[in-house]
Amino acid sequence: MNKKKIIIANWKMKLSFAESISLAKQYTELLNEGNAGDNDVVACVSTMALSSISEIFRSSFVKLGGQDVFWEEKGSYTGEISAPILEELGCSYVIVGHSERRQYLLENYQMIHQKVKSVLSTSQITPIVCIGENLKERDPDKRDYVITDQLQQALGGIKLLPKQEIIVAYEPVWEIGTGQAIQPDDAATMHKIINVALIDLLGIDVTKHQIRVVYGGSVTGENSSDFTKLDHVDGLLIGGASLKAEEFAKIVASN
Ligand code: PGA
Repeated sequence: MNKKKIIIANWKMKLSFAESISLAKQYTELLNEGNAGDNDVVACVSTMALSSISEIFRSSFVKLGGQDVFWEEKGSYTGEISAPILEELGCSYVIVGHSERRQYLLENYQMIHQKVKSVLSTSQITPIVCIGENLKERDPDKRDYVITDQLQQALGGIKLLPKQEIIVAYEPVWEIGTGQAIQPDDAATMHKIINVALIDLLGIDVTKHQIRVVYGGSVTGENSSDFTKLDHVDGLLIGGASLKAEEFAKIVASN
């Protein structure tokens, strides 16, 4: 079954407030239903720019996403932001457990699990849950286990209501931001493993209808369709190339 593709931009912490506003305006000029094919399009922007960009995207077809979320709804959690607040700011999606947070902030899959649970139970936001092996785990004997284990820890026991969805983002950590994406054959193998693991974990119906699995890691205008044409690849998570509005719009239009 071919699912509707979702193309997700991750602007990380790469832009100032003014630059974020300007890029958001360029997105709305270049991306519309006429040229975006049948794709869903999401921009995950810095927390500080959410409320302003929410206004810019209001009449646009681009959806707004956060880059992180905390697992409690409210309380003494300095610096954190909850799913209901993200929703209030206009978010429809949020990235959970990006590898940069796992690396620099020691976020682990127990925390990621709590975050996914909280997003689903306290808001109507769709979590974009990141998984992916690092260079040490890359060995073909190890990586299947690593990926299956990450999925189990992040999503084990999660129950989705009929209208809810989860996006799983597979990003080989060693390829993020390098400009060198993995071979499409390799991605095909990993997405097949992920599909089997998801069926084991959540059942075939939920996996078919309520989960989309996207590929991320050095996706560009040149290589994007090498990935989206693969089985079990339902879209893309794009860092660097999403900062150039024209390149991002080209990726959206061509997939
Ligand atoms: P990249 O980043 O496209 O720059 O490799 C992807 C990501 O980290 O989400």
